[in-house]
Amino acid sequence: MFQLSPAGIDFVKTELNRYETKRSAILPCLYKVQEENGGWVSPEAVNHLADVMDIPAAHINEVLYFYTMYNKKPVGRLHVQVCATISCAMNGARELAKHICDKYQVKEGEISDDGMVTVTKVECLGSCGTAPMMQIGNAYYENLTKESAIEVIEDLKKKSTNQ
Ligand code: FES
Repeated sequence: MFQLSPAGIDFVKTELNRYETKRSAILPCLYKVQEENGGWVSPEAVNHLADVMDIPAAHINEVLYFYTMYNKKPVGRLHVQVCATISCAMNGARELAKHICDKYQVKEGEISDDGMVTVTKVECLGSCGTAPMMQIGNAYYENLTKESAIEVIEDLKKKSTNQ
């Protein structure tokens, strides 16, 4: 059963004190839950957060289902989000996403057999001048080629398995 860590609970309490209304703290608190829950926000995690924040779970779900940066189902350890909006699309983003899927033998939105990679196409990430680009975790990788994208992922895979 999901429970925030003591540090996660402290984080939520700090965020609750930062804003005038509890609902304003939902966004950062959902990020914390996603981080501590292996990269996604489960229904039980929502219920737990609702208890900690002392607000209805429905208020959290409204935010959760509005924003695409929260994952509603499990993802691989590396969630590769390839921007597929206009600038990136014109610079090969869709082919890039397919190349990454083929390389790791995973369908878009699913988890590779080794649990490491999920590839999703997402809307503009605000880095249109350096298209095509992708986001993994909190980092942006820009001006990608098929080769450089795989290099980035392989490097992160190595770092991830060494942790
Ligand atoms: S179109 Fe890809 S970052 Fe904006």
